[in-house]
Amino acid sequence: MIDQNSISDLSQLLCLQNDQRQQLIKKVISYYHAFLDNLSEGKAYLGDADEGKALATMPFQENPYPIDQIFDVFHQAVTENGINPASGKHFGYVPGGGIETAAWGDFLGALTNRYSGINFANPGAVRMENQVIAWMCQLIGYKEGSHGSLLSGGSIANLSAIITARDHKELKARDFEKAVIYLTDETHHCVQKALRLAGMGESVIRYIPMDEKFSMQPDALETTIKKDIELGLIPFLLIGSAGTTNTGAIDPLERLADIAANDQIWFHVDAAYGGFFLLVDELREKFKGIERADSVVIDPHKSLFMPYGSGVILVKEAAHLFKSNYYTAAYLQDSMDGQEELSPADYSPELTRHFRGMRIWFSISILGISPFRKALAEKIELSHYFYHEIQKAGFEFGPFPALSISLFRYVPKEGDANEANTKLLALIHADGQIFVSSTTILGVIWIRMAILVFRAHQKEVDFAIKTIENLKNSMNLH
Ligand SMILES: Cc1ncc(COP(=O)(O)O)c(C=O)c1O
Repeated sequence: MIDQNSISDLSQLLCLQNDQRQQLIKKVISYYHAFLDNLSEGKAYLGDADEGKALATMPFQENPYPIDQIFDVFHQAVTENGINPASGKHFGYVPGGGIETAAWGDFLGALTNRYSGINFANPGAVRMENQVIAWMCQLIGYKEGSHGSLLSGGSIANLSAIITARDHKELKARDFEKAVIYLTDETHHCVQKALRLAGMGESVIRYIPMDEKFSMQPDALETTIKKDIELGLIPFLLIGSAGTTNTGAIDPLERLADIAANDQIWFHVDAAYGGFFLLVDELREKFKGIERADSVVIDPHKSLFMPYGSGVILVKEAAHLFKSNYYTAAYLQDSMDGQEELSPADYSPELTRHFRGMRIWFSISILGISPFRKALAEKIELSHYFYHEIQKAGFEFGPFPALSISLFRYVPKEGDANEANTKLLALIHADGQIFVSSTTILGVIWIRMAILVFRAHQKEVDFAIKTIENLKNSMNLH
C-alpha cells in the first residue's frame, strides 16, 4: 500500500494548479510579445554577453524558483547571447528564422504528447506526418511508391540516406574498402561524418573537380568512374548537391542522374539548404534531374523556415528505406494491427520520437503554401540586389549567386586580403548589429552572406550593406 501522506501532495505538483497555469501563460505571452517587438531593433549577434553564466545562479534544487527569476535567467543566459537566429539581420551559416506558427504547432504537439511513430498508437498523427512527407515527395517530383522520414536535421538525414544506399547495394564489411563515393570539395562535411558513422570510414572518396561556379564536372566524374571500374573497385554512391553551403551551387543533376543510372550507382542529392527553392516555379529548371535521385535530403529548418530540429530524407522507393530501418519486437505485437498507413518507426532509426510533422502541418495549414513561395522568391531577388550593391560599395564578389548565398571580400590595394577580411569579420562580429560568417575556398577567405531568414527584407539587406561598408571604411585600408 502506498503511503499517500508521504508522496501524493508533492507528486501532484507536476500538474499546474489553475492560478499557476494562468501566471505561466501570462508570463509566456508577455515574453513572446517582448521578444518579437525587440527583434527588428535588437542585435543579431551578442558575442560579449555573459556566455550563459547566469545559469550558475540557479542550480537545480528540491524546491521551485520564482517564475520571474526563471524568465530573467533564461533571457540573460540564452536569448541575450550569441547569434540570434530569429533576427532578420542574421545572414550567417544557413539561417531560416523559425516561424511563429511552428512554435505553436510544437506546443500543441508536446501538450497533447501524441505518439506519431506507429499507426496503431495514433493513426491521425501518422497520417499527418505521411501527408507532410507526401507533399515533399511531390515537390521533388517523385511518383507513387516514394516515401521518407522526418528526422532531426540534415546530418542525420544524410546518414540515413547513406545507410539506405549501403544496404540496398548489399555491401558487406569486406566490400567497404573497395566501395567508392563520388562527391566534390563543396559537399557538406556531414557526408564524410555520416560515412564514418555508417562504418564506411575506410571507403574510397573521390573528390570530383568542379567548374568555376563550384559545380561538379560530369565529364571528370565519368572518367573517374571508368578508371575505378578498371581498378576493380565498386562505384557505389554519387552525391550531388542542390545548393552547397559555401556558395549555393547546384550540381548538374540531370547529367549526374544519367551517369549514375548507367553505372548502377546510388544517386543521392543533398538539397538540405536548396530543396525548398523548388517551390519557386522559375527556379525548378535548375534542379532538373533531382526527381531521378534515389534519395534526397531536404531541411525544413533551413528553407522552410521551421525552427531547428527538422531534416527530412526522401526516397524514390519506400522499400529501400524500410529495408534499412524495419525491426520488430515481441512487446510491440499489438501495434502490428492497422497497417493502412506506413508507420514512421518502420522508416526511421527512432522508435519513440518527437511529433515532428505537427509544426510543418500546422504552419502550412494556417499560412498556406503561397507565402513560403513568395518569401523564397524574395530571398533570391535580395541576393541579386546584394550582388550589385556590395560591388558598388567596393567589394569583390564570388560567383553570381545560384540561390541566396553570396561570397564577397574586400581586396585592399596594399597588404594581405585574407588578413583584411578576417579583421573586417571580427569588426562585424564585435559590432553585432548584423551577423555574417566566413569561409575559405582555395586559400581565399570570403565573407558569406546567406539571405534566408524569412524576416530578412530589403531594409535588413540595405542595413547590412551600410554596416559592412562603414566598418570597412573604419579600417582605413587603401
Ligand atoms: C547542404 C547542407 N547539407 C547538410 C547540412 C547539415 O544539416 P544540419 O545542420 O541540419 O545537420 C547543411 C547544414 O548547413 C547543409 O547546408
